Amino acid sequence: MSGLRILLSEAEIAARVEALAGEITQTIPGDFVMVGLLKGAAVFVADLARALDRAGARPEIEFMRLSSYGLAKVSSGDVRLLGDAPSRLKGRRVLLIDDIVDTGRSIAFAAALLRERGIGGLWTCALLDKPQRREVEAPIDFVGFRIEDVFVAGYGIDHAEKYRHLPYIGVVD
Ligand code: IMP
Ligand code: MG
Repeated sequence: MSGLRILLSEAEIAARVEALAGEITQTIPGDFVMVGLLKGAAVFVADLARALDRAGARPEIEFMRLSSYGLAKVSSGDVRLLGDAPSRLKGRRVLLIDDIVDTGRSIAFAAALLRERGIGGLWTCALLDKPQRREVEAPIDFVGFRIEDVFVAGYGIDHAEKYRHLPYIGVVD
């Protein structure tokens, strides 16, 4: 069976993504580049980009790849860069996007890297936030849903590379 106990349905996610796009266009002035963290944020970025279009924005889309959890459910705490966003981000406004912010290490690492490049402004966005799990400071400007400390998958998010294809988000027991 490919199913999980549903935490957030396809319809709930779609409604929240639409609302987030509205918040983002009201906050970020002018043009910006979406920088998604692979692979988990790919599905979210794809839906958010089209919601942003409906909200009147015309974002560019880039990705960065950080090291992942591998097969584990708990972060090793060691974040590494596997694939870089292009250097042409210099001077541009960037919306950094991840699927989940847990300890905060991944998004804080990516944010620091982008700031070193001299980008023109940085906003952060996560579909899911687990505030109870935070270990490092990682301010998130746009949060889809705050959730409890449960391990989830679906809608791009995996457990050992499974479940990314699910249109909803469920709890992995
Ligand atoms: P952090 O660096 O500890 O904040 O971890 C963030 C990354 O861990 C996210 O980009 C996810 O890929 C992964 N992650 C955190 N929580 C979960 C979960 O519940 N399910 C699957 N992946 C998770
Ligand atoms: Mg990830």
